[in-house]
Formats: sequence, C-alpha cells, structure tokens
Amino acid sequence: MLAGYPSVVISMHRPVLYQEIIHSLSPQRGGHYVDATLGAGGHTWGILEASAPDGLLLGMDVDPQALELARNKLSVFGSRAILVRASYTSLAEQLAALKWPSVDGIVLDLGVSSMQLDTPQRGFSFQVDAPLDMRFDPDNPVQAADLVNTLPEGDIADLLFRYGEEHQSRRVARAIVQARPLETTGQLARVVAGVTGSGKKGMHPATRTFQALRIAVNRELEALEEFLPQAVTSLASAGRVAVISFHSLEDRIVKQYFKKESQDCICPPKQPMCTCGHKAVVRILTRRPIRPGATEVNANPRARSARLRVAEKI
Ligand SMILES: C[S@@+](CC[C@H](N)C(=O)[O-])C[C@H]1O[C@@H](n2cnc3c(N)ncnc32)[C@H](O)[C@@H]1O
Repeated sequence: MLAGYPSVVISMHRPVLYQEIIHSLSPQRGGHYVDATLGAGGHTWGILEASAPDGLLLGMDVDPQALELARNKLSVFGSRAILVRASYTSLAEQLAALKWPSVDGIVLDLGVSSMQLDTPQRGFSFQVDAPLDMRFDPDNPVQAADLVNTLPEGDIADLLFRYGEEHQSRRVARAIVQARPLETTGQLARVVAGVTGSGKKGMHPATRTFQALRIAVNRELEALEEFLPQAVTSLASAGRVAVISFHSLEDRIVKQYFKKESQDCICPPKQPMCTCGHKAVVRILTRRPIRPGATEVNANPRARSARLRVAEKI
C-alpha cells in the first residue's frame, strides 16, 4: 500500500477516453511512445500492451507518488517502460537523453488524477478540509495558500477571471482578501460560496476558484504552450499526438496550435501574397474533439468535460 493513497482510489482508477487513445495512437510493435502525464499509468498500460512485445514507452510525471504507483503497476513490462520524474515541458531534453531521435505517438492527459483529487492532503478538492496546496510537483515553491494570502486583490480577481472564467471575480477576490489568512480548502470554499451562492446546478460554487488557483499554481497553460511545439517536433512522419483537456482554456490552446501547424500559410487572410513561408507539419485527425460517451460518463462522472484532439505528423 502506498503511503497517503487509500486502496480504493488505486484499484478504481480508470483512465479517461482509454479506448479512444489506444485507437488514435494505434501502437505498433517496435514503436517508441511517450505518455507525458503518466499518472497511475492507465494509458501507458494500454500502449505497452498494444505495442508488445518490444514497443518502448517514456512515461513522465512531476508527482513522485504517481510515479511510485505507476512503477509498481507497470513492473510487468520490465525495461520497456522508462519512467522519469520530469515535467512534460522538458520532453525534447528527455528524448535527447534517451537518444530517441523521434517517436511514433505521444499522449498528454491534462488535469488532476483521481488519486490526487481523492488524497485530501494534496488540497485539490473542496469536498474535504485540507491545506491549500494544489501542487502537482511537491518541489514547486508556490502553493495555493501563497497566492490567496499574498497577492493583491486586483491580481486575485484577474486570476479568477482569466483561469476560472469566474464572472464574479471582483466580488470573490474582495471576500478572499477580507477573510485572509486562509489556510484550508474548506475555509476558501466557504468564503467563495458566501459570495457566489449555490452556483449552477450540479456545480459547487467554488469550482471555478479552485480551477483558477490550480492552473496558476502549476502554470498549466504556459506548460501546455511549451509542450506542444516539442511534441510536434519530436514526432516521426505519421506519428500522432493525442491531447485530452478538461476545460475550454486548455482545449482552445490545443485547437489553435493544431490549426496553425496544419496550415501552409499563416499570413493575415486579407494579405494578397504569402510572406510567412509557414509550412504545414501536421494533419488534424479530429475536426471536432472526441467526447466520452454516456456509458463512460455514467461510470466515471469526472470524464464528462474531457475533450480529445489528435494530430498526425506529415
Ligand atoms: C489526469 S492525470 C493522468 C492520468 C493518466 N493518463 C493515467 O492513465 O493514469 C494527469 C497527471 O499529469 C501530471 N502532471 C501535471 N503537470 C505535469 C507536468 N508539467 N509534467 C508532467 N506531468 C504533469 C499530474 O501529476 C498527474 O499525475
């Protein structure tokens, strides 16, 4: 049993859009793959199984507890699974260290894992009272408590609006500053609920605030922007990159990046002649994002906002 993780969480883990990821990457024997957000190793398991007996996979995660869990689970694959504690923003560096000039498939499954969400002391959930942490990487010097207790009111409002799309961002920021210091998820959730009321049907009133803080603590959007060009550059011809996102901010970044890299010219539409010289490097395989079906959402309600986009290297 891993310290800090309830056994029920470990046994129940179910990767989102599992079949769709395996189908999209269509792993082959002898291929080289990357799971850039290893988590509990669910997608990795499927890729290694499908690329047996000799496909290789690099698995990356910044969370040492996730790595420990995945390492135990994936030990049956022996040296075919190379697991490292690293950010997906260092993809190019990790591939260079392995002397892999290119790879055949890359999966990025963004967001919080079930184990992180269900481990109260990580501070990702407002369902239980816990320290305001929210870091994927425990060596990250910034925790959610630092942001809510030290940022000026205007900066908190901007953060909630930009990353949480919270329409009452100014009122929530004012309430947070008046209630400081805030130490726990429960305190923060109560302060936000006091301002925003009961929220939309089925959605906790603090959902947007927690999402915004998590994105800011982990610099999630910047990390995604750093990752995408490295992923596309690393792919072999006909290699595929598959990204699962959980909110519109992430999905927009993936959509726009794939669109730009699938075009031969990115000059402004009114310009009569191309001066950019841009050449398409990918083909988009998902004109619309793939969403989980009703059966998956019923079995795993956390999958409901997932969107998968896939691109293939030309
Ligand atoms: C939704 S989970 C992935 C679940 C995984 N696909 C599975 O099948 O179990 C997302 C994971 O990404 C990790 N993560 C977050 N930011 C990261 C980063 N910059 N680099 C690498 N991993 C990161 C988190 O720690 C978490 O374990």
